[in-house]
Amino acid sequence: MRETLTVNINDQKMQIDEAGRVMQPGRRAFLKGAIAAGAALAIPSWVTAAEAQIPAGKKLRFGYIGRGSVSHAYLPTLAEAEFVELVSICDLIEGRARDGATRHKIPNVYPNIDAMLAGPKFDLLVNTTSMPSHFPVNKKALEAGCNVWSEKPIALEVKDAYELLELAKKKGVQIWVAPTCVTSPQFRFMSDMIQGGKIGRVTAGHGTYGHGGPTWSAWFYEKGGGSLYDLGVYNVTTLTGLLGPVKSVMGMTAILNKTRKVDDKGEVTVTADENTMLIMDHGNGILSHVQTGFGYFEPERAPSRERKLYTVDIMGTTGAMHMQGWDWAPAAVDVATEGHAILQPQCRDKWPYEWVGGARYVATCLLTGQKSLITAEHGLHVLEVMNACHRSQETGRRIAVESTFKWPLFT
Ligand SMILES: NC(=O)c1ccc[n+]([C@@H]2O[C@H](COP(=O)([O-])OP(=O)(O)OC[C@H]3O[C@@H](n4cnc5c(N)ncnc54)[C@H](O)[C@@H]3O)[C@@H](O)[C@H]2O)c1
Repeated sequence: MRETLTVNINDQKMQIDEAGRVMQPGRRAFLKGAIAAGAALAIPSWVTAAEAQIPAGKKLRFGYIGRGSVSHAYLPTLAEAEFVELVSICDLIEGRARDGATRHKIPNVYPNIDAMLAGPKFDLLVNTTSMPSHFPVNKKALEAGCNVWSEKPIALEVKDAYELLELAKKKGVQIWVAPTCVTSPQFRFMSDMIQGGKIGRVTAGHGTYGHGGPTWSAWFYEKGGGSLYDLGVYNVTTLTGLLGPVKSVMGMTAILNKTRKVDDKGEVTVTADENTMLIMDHGNGILSHVQTGFGYFEPERAPSRERKLYTVDIMGTTGAMHMQGWDWAPAAVDVATEGHAILQPQCRDKWPYEWVGGARYVATCLLTGQKSLITAEHGLHVLEVMNACHRSQETGRRIAVESTFKWPLFT
């Protein structure tokens, strides 16, 4: 009998087959469409080209920690890569780690990071624990000499993020942090349009991402959780990636519900932001804003790659661009420019970008020496911007941002 499991991923119910693969509607529909059209599945892309450069038989050893909701999408993507050797898996809830080990044939299972790091060595730790655990887990892994791919944010406090970057340097390893938005073909297209002067002087940007809120874990609604860290982080990454580092921030946040019902703890008191507006000053007159929340009508906003929900807008003096679909799963970019003022969809490339492909992407960088577009400095800057939004809410003031990162990403 086929064993299937339904899990929540990005607040969407998805089926997992007995091999642990997520039956993603977008992926299935694309592959079906491509096969029906007789299209070759060798999708042209710089990421595929990079993976193709990995010498045959060369492998990177992986440790995986945090076998919760998102791991159902992460692990299959890693397990299918020839250059990935899954050595160890860990979760505080040991049954979850055991299930992951069985599904993906991972030989070593642990109930905590210390035991995991004392076991067989691996080169890269993938950290998809809950957000308050990111800093302590990332720190222990770096101290043990492991490279780290961390889910966002890299830490909760900016000083802790600096400590991680210093530690990585000291140990001669690297740390990278989700999201992967800057590796999508649509991000590259928009960046090239801006840097190429195709929309004139860039003046403004807008990003949005929201849904009804996660239903499975309490920590999303407690200190160290919230809609900005969980969802707005994608837009902050995309807009800073496109428009440059931020100089100062103003923000407002709100809590919408006194309590929420969640699967792991029942009714919990909400103490983290559920409704957030963030305004960023990128310098040179460029302003952008992000709106994000756990109180957004979902059916209209449900993830889909084939529709015209604009989530990132960039305005210039001679053109405008609107990203179709979420910036973590974009479908195309609609563009209007002088002489072509009616919006036209461009850059419909889909593959092989995957929002859960970050660990695989940085592993490719480690194995080939290719430079990563995703950097710890950018992740730290995004954290400082988000924390400045919270400070602005607390103080009613505009908050200066000190960190920066190498920009533009493509030259
Ligand atoms: N769920 C999604 O759809 C989704 C999508 C994108 C990104 N993310 C990010 O992935 C991360 C995890 O989210 P999730 O939804 O999977 O959360 P989750 O609550 O479903 O899973 C987190 C898991 O980490 C384990 N854990 C926590 N602290 C630990 C520690 N110190 N050591 C070992 N295990 C520990 C928990 O027991 C739990 O099983 C978050 O940063 C989230 O923002 C989630």
